[in-house]
Amino acid sequence: MLSGIQPTAGSFHLGNYLGALRQWVDLQDSAEAFYCVVDLHAITVAQDPAELRRNTLTSAAQLLALGVDPSRSALFVQSHVPEHAQLGWVMQCLTGFGEAGRMTQFKDKSQRQGAANTTVGLFTYPILQVADILLYQAARVPVGEDQRQHLELTRDLAVRFNGRFGETFTVPEVFIPPGAAKVLDLQTPEKQMSKSLPGAGCVFLLDEPKVTAKKIRSAVTDTGREVVADAANKPGITNLLTIHSALSGRTVAQLEQDFDGRGYGDLKKELAEVVTEFVAPVQQRTHELLDDRAELERTLAEGAARAREVAAGTLAQVYDRVGF
Ligand code: ADP
Ligand code: NA
Repeated sequence: MLSGIQPTAGSFHLGNYLGALRQWVDLQDSAEAFYCVVDLHAITVAQDPAELRRNTLTSAAQLLALGVDPSRSALFVQSHVPEHAQLGWVMQCLTGFGEAGRMTQFKDKSQRQGAANTTVGLFTYPILQVADILLYQAARVPVGEDQRQHLELTRDLAVRFNGRFGETFTVPEVFIPPGAAKVLDLQTPEKQMSKSLPGAGCVFLLDEPKVTAKKIRSAVTDTGREVVADAANKPGITNLLTIHSALSGRTVAQLEQDFDGRGYGDLKKELAEVVTEFVAPVQQRTHELLDDRAELERTLAEGAARAREVAAGTLAQVYDRVGF
């Protein structure tokens, strides 16, 4: 199994955790996992070098703090394994220009960047993602719904390569892990919580507890007063219940019962406690890991060495098949 995450924001947010990273931690029990901080993807948009380096380490530290276990899983930084870029080139040469142009995320992202800041890298980054996955012969790739089209491209290119050059790649299954929650922005609950909406609606795992509590207290709700889940009419309250349930382990039905006769303020107050209790030890562990940078870098070097054992084998076979 393989999954990757960009290091761009410096801190992951609750949506990243409840929608993806929690599953990374859980899935380690059932599969050999390769988990990758995808810094090559991070330079598809303008970046500051010192910030990127810091964010990459902070991302890795958070993954470890959240429970990625380097004794079971290979945790590594994408740029430490040059086979990603090397296989990426081969896969680009197998992709139709029109085919790449149909990726809807590129349309969204390039619009957000503006034409002048849209790089060719942003256009081809789904193909680098194809290489990320195929290098490890991943059978399953846990992804959110937003990544489904890229997974389909991965499958198409794996089948194409195998058909043209002989059986080489495992064709991965799209796998949307059960229990992954979709978290909405606290200020605009029509939208998903995202680092690209980094205002008061996005709760970062490394936010100060006071900041987190304030963001939750000022979450947009509706003019009603009943704490019940109703995604269509009460998206804000439903979102708060989703987050509470995911972190406390209580069902939404139980929470509705607990808050029967109490107001939105009580829910927000309790949720702020639930969230800050969850993030406090994660923050502490993240800072401990960052304080011993040499040890953190050693862990990542070991992860990269493990990843390279598999990646180099796949790439050697690919190079041979294409005639290098
Ligand atoms: P962002 O939207 O902040 O840019 P990314 O696109 O880097 O986050 O997403 C990283 C991972 O986190 C992906 O697997 C994505 O599906 C998941 N994810 C991001 N935001 C949310 C959210 N609000 N709810 C659930 N999962 C999310
Ligand atoms: Na996203």
